[in-house]
Amino acid sequence: MAGPHQTIIIFGATGDLAHRMLFPSLYNLFVDRLLPDDVLIIGSGRSEMDDEAFRASIDLQKSLPAERYDAEAAAEFLKRVRYSAVGGKEEEFARLRSLVGDRMERGVSIYLSTPPSLFAPMVEGLGRAGLSGPTVRVAMEKPIGQDLASSRQVNDAVNGVFDEERVFRVDHYLGKETVQNLLVLRFGNMLFEPLWNATAIEHVQITVAETVGLEGRVSYYDGVGALKDMVQNHMLQLLALVAMEPPASMAPAAVRDEKVKVIRSLRPMTPETVASLSVRGQYGAGAVGGQPVRGYADELGKASGTETFVALKAQIDNWRWAGVPFYLRTGKRMPERSSEILIQFRGVPHSIFGRKGKGLDPNTMLIRIQPQENIQLQVMAKQPGLDRQGIDLREVALDVSLSTEAAGQRRRIAYERLLLDLIEGDPTLFVRRDEVEAAWTWIDSIRQAWDQAGVEVKPYTAGTWGPSAAIALIERDGASWHE
Ligand code: BG6
Repeated sequence: MAGPHQTIIIFGATGDLAHRMLFPSLYNLFVDRLLPDDVLIIGSGRSEMDDEAFRASIDLQKSLPAERYDAEAAAEFLKRVRYSAVGGKEEEFARLRSLVGDRMERGVSIYLSTPPSLFAPMVEGLGRAGLSGPTVRVAMEKPIGQDLASSRQVNDAVNGVFDEERVFRVDHYLGKETVQNLLVLRFGNMLFEPLWNATAIEHVQITVAETVGLEGRVSYYDGVGALKDMVQNHMLQLLALVAMEPPASMAPAAVRDEKVKVIRSLRPMTPETVASLSVRGQYGAGAVGGQPVRGYADELGKASGTETFVALKAQIDNWRWAGVPFYLRTGKRMPERSSEILIQFRGVPHSIFGRKGKGLDPNTMLIRIQPQENIQLQVMAKQPGLDRQGIDLREVALDVSLSTEAAGQRRRIAYERLLLDLIEGDPTLFVRRDEVEAAWTWIDSIRQAWDQAGVEVKPYTAGTWGPSAAIALIERDGASWHE
């Protein structure tokens, strides 16, 4: 079957992600005429309701920027949407199958936006109902399992029904424009790649800081924590894109083969090393953006050992990166929302400016992913003057603002790209089974080492950059976090 799939089924269609992201993304694609003319979108959730009630529950006006919302277009879009309740019973799957009818031949993309515990049962139900043939693809959000063993179980169950080529594991960071730009920056320019290695780079920092707290996600987040919620997926994907070898092409297998090699090269942590390579934190009461906020345990209503912040010193054991630390840091209730990657280059091998040349700093490259989108290269320049005391040097920034360069071009929701790739069958920006499992292998080594070495969460005040131990983690090596 060629061409984009003409039927899209969203499981978990009454949930938050579907309402905030998936339906608005589908609407945007529809308005831009990027969905097939005859598209049918079936929402599915546990509750019984009819098509009209479901359509009425999708509030596109609320979730879209005012300039994108158009009442007429929304009404047209909603005509393509139907609803079919599936809680898990055979007859419900059968009803869904008959709603799809002979559209099966024209391709069906199924998106599981359900709690992860339902991935396996849902996929098995689809299989029994005959909704899994060669013209069907399935997509699912992280987390795939809670550790390597459970992720294998989920993957086995899913692959028991769908071949790996038809399984699309979503990491929404890969749908972000600025994340994809990492590939272009590295492999579309001659300037950086020759220096992109241990000879020229001293260390790398990856920070994903959020200002939000628990946000009513108690049942999911507690017991999971920042390591599994953010590092296992988003941060390791960023690390892989920064550290991977050049793929031979943008072919899905070429890109994913290189990413998995990097993730497999991460040095496992042990009970002996984990205390010096990681810091876990949990926010207490404080203030973010001038507003007082409660502590995690207070929001949760009980004491908890779950980390809302983690800082790691990752080591990649391969030729390119031997000896170059990758410092990773992510947390909730940080002072600002910012995702960025800092490449710290080494100093020049010899300074011709001698002792009189003041302030010769090594170059840095800062890649800002969100909310700002810019790339800043700090280079040395001469301070204007007559230099009677020797040349005075200073750092200046070569600053490329991607928002300015691409002004007027709409930034698409990450899910627009991913949904389009799903119905068109391009898996490049989705995570392959071996990547997920390699990531869990490394995460498990940390988790187990924490348990064995008794590494506890350290408190930090909401609105700060995490526990002071996180500062010590990097400063021990003579570096400091970019803030
Ligand atoms: C999700 C995590 O995957 O990513 C959340 O579960 C986190 O805890 C979110 O808030 C961050 O995504 P973004 O796109 O806002 O950076």
